[in-house]
Parts: sequence; structure tokens; C-alpha cells
Amino acid sequence: MTAQTLDSLLAEGVTGRRVLVRSDLNVPLDGDVVTDDGRIRASLPVLEKLARAGARVLVVAHLGRPKGAPEPRFSLAPVARRMAELTEVPVAFASDLVGEDARSHSDRMSEGSILLLENVRFDPRETSSEEGDRRALAGELADLTARGGAYVDDAFGAVHRRHASVADITAELPSYQGDLVRDELQVLRRLTEAPQRPYTVVLGGSKVSDKLAVIENLMTRADALLVGGGMVFTFLRARGYGIGRSLVEEDEVETVRGFMQEAQRLGCRLILPTDIVMAAEFSDGAEHEVLPVDALETGTHGDQALGLDIGPESAARFAKEIVDSNTVFWNGPMGVFELEPFSHGTAAVARALTETDGFTVVGGGDSAAAVRGLGFDEAGFGHISTGGGASLEYLEGRALPGIDALNS
Ligand code: 3PG
Repeated sequence: MTAQTLDSLLAEGVTGRRVLVRSDLNVPLDGDVVTDDGRIRASLPVLEKLARAGARVLVVAHLGRPKGAPEPRFSLAPVARRMAELTEVPVAFASDLVGEDARSHSDRMSEGSILLLENVRFDPRETSSEEGDRRALAGELADLTARGGAYVDDAFGAVHRRHASVADITAELPSYQGDLVRDELQVLRRLTEAPQRPYTVVLGGSKVSDKLAVIENLMTRADALLVGGGMVFTFLRARGYGIGRSLVEEDEVETVRGFMQEAQRLGCRLILPTDIVMAAEFSDGAEHEVLPVDALETGTHGDQALGLDIGPESAARFAKEIVDSNTVFWNGPMGVFELEPFSHGTAAVARALTETDGFTVVGGGDSAAAVRGLGFDEAGFGHISTGGGASLEYLEGRALPGIDALNS
């Protein structure tokens, strides 16, 4: 079965009804200040659409990875404040999820308003591996909507999680797909079904183990795979180069070596950096220098140096590949972009994405935050996805529990 749409819910009528919306509001915070509100802005259209149609909108979301108990640093209170600044719809915040405060707010809330519930991951049942636990929480969430409720999944970034508020809840309430989930899936389909060639994939980020499945899958589809970020050192190690104290996953060196051979067999060009910015330490003010990949341990700090960004020659090469492509998918920063001296590789990739005439997709939390944090205009990109893990798992060809639950 295909999922029911938000428009079909609106056509049924939502005035006065309590509609539970799962949003992905997992945003970076500095203390209690939201430092990148992209996911809040991406979630608001559906919340506003429902509120303007007269619904009482209850929002369920997670922040970070608390261990199933309240932790003040993972509270959604700052997110509620930022949301209230961004919309004219009234926003209230409940200091618990399905407890007294949530119930009393839900009872009192007026039509056309939003109530954000506290972090759903403060309840251990949300992420429990026991279906019974998850179903119990899903039932309590559904109870908040009283009679006549509905559920909308608009949390694209969480659809790969088999969690109570993502998957199990659909057994408790009539369920609908939010517009953000619909739009994200449309874009990803474009990448998997008939990408315009040349199709280039740029992968970065720190952990190669997180990306193994996607690399394996994309090698069969993409014309070129550009690799940067911390994960590149496992590739460089597989090539036999010294990498100093750079991040490496020794357990994956063999797998990565196999990938390099497989890419060659498949005719996918696996392009690694030719130079790296090597630093004395992981800090903003660290002494640093650019070294060729086959001589990373020959600089001032020898084998004590660590690689924190791709070098300028690699950045230029990557940029050219991107500009010459008709489809580009990018996930993961090229270096430690939060520290200015090591942000240039990521900035070069982002700039090239804005310059190519091809269709570009930026996948994921970190890369999306990097784009905005480095001051690029979001309008310059084809699509900035709100889902990191979710978009990767989709591209890996894996089943997504949140999507399957809506379709069943
Ligand atoms: C994300 O940040 O990718 C989503 O919000 C999912 O978060 P999670 O990886 O902690 O489940």
C-alpha cells in the first residue's frame, strides 16, 4: 500500500482534532542556543499547514542520544523557543512526554496551536528493542490525541529508526506521510532511479565504518566517488601510506582495500586526495602545513602530525569533478570545518556544488550545517536533505522502518 498523504488528512478535515506529528528537530546546540535551525525551519511548513487548518498539533521529536532518562542538556526547550521565534503559530512546550504536563497542555491547547513535547528519547521505551515496550509508549502517545486523533510522520531524518514514535505508532492511529518525507523521498528516488550522468558522489566525515554499505552500493551506480574527511586516512593506509596520528580504523583497512579493487573492476573512479593539511594538534591555532599524501609524515611534526583537511590541490580537483557532473550527492565534511584553518576543503566542495549546472543533493546533518555555517546560500543547492543516516540508508537500498510502517 502507498502511504496516505497529508493532503488527504487535510481533506478529511482536522479542525479541532489533535494531530500527533513526528518531526526531526535534532539540531546542534551551544548551551541552550540553537546553532543551526535548518531542521526546525524544514519542519515548520507541515506544522503550520495543520495548525492553519485548525488542528491541535502535538509534536514528538528527539534531540541527541540520551540514555532513556531525562538529561537537561538534551531538553527540547531551546528548540521550542527557536520555533516560537520562527512562526506566527502559538507554540507551547510540555516538560514531559506523556506525563501530567503533556496531558494538561494537550487538554488546554487551542485549535491552531502547536505543543512540542519533551524529548521522546527520555523515555527508554522509544528506542527499546522489545516491541511490547515500544507499543506501550506508542499507545500512550496516541492517548494524548484523545478521540479522533491522527499521526503524521514528517521526521525524514529518523525514518531509518525502528522507534516507537516513528514506526510502532502507526498501529495506534490513522497515519499519514508528511510533505517533508514525501519531498525527500522524491529527491532520493531521482538519485537512485535515473541519475543524469556523470553522477559524482562526494563522501566525507570521520568514520568509514558508517559509510561502508553506502560506498559498496554507490560504486555500482556512480561514475566517480570522491573521498575526503577523517575517513580518507583508512583509504590512505590501505594504499600503504604513513598517516601520522590521523584518524584511522585499522579494522577496516582490508575492506577498504577490497573496495578500491572493486571500484576499478566496476569502472567507478574512486578519487582520493593528493594532498592533506597536516596539523600539530586538533585546535584552531595549531601549526599546520600542506603535504602530499605519500609524504604525510615528513613535515615539521613528523609522524606526530594529524590530517585535518584535504589540501588545496585535492580541493581544486574535487571541485572540477563536481562542476563537470550532472548529478552530485554529497555527504560528510572534507575536514574539521568548524575550525577555520581546516574548513577550506569543505568550503571548496560546497562552492563547487553551487557552481555546477548539475542537480545537487547535500545529504545530512553535518554537511547541511557546514553549508549554512560557512555562509553559503541554501538556494544555491538543488536540495539540502534533513536526513543524514536516513538518506544514506535509503541510498544503500535498505528498508526504512518509518516508511514501511506508513505503507503497511
Ligand atoms: C540525525 O541526526 O541523523 C537524526 O536526527 C537521527 O538521529 P540518530 O542518529 O540519533 O537516530
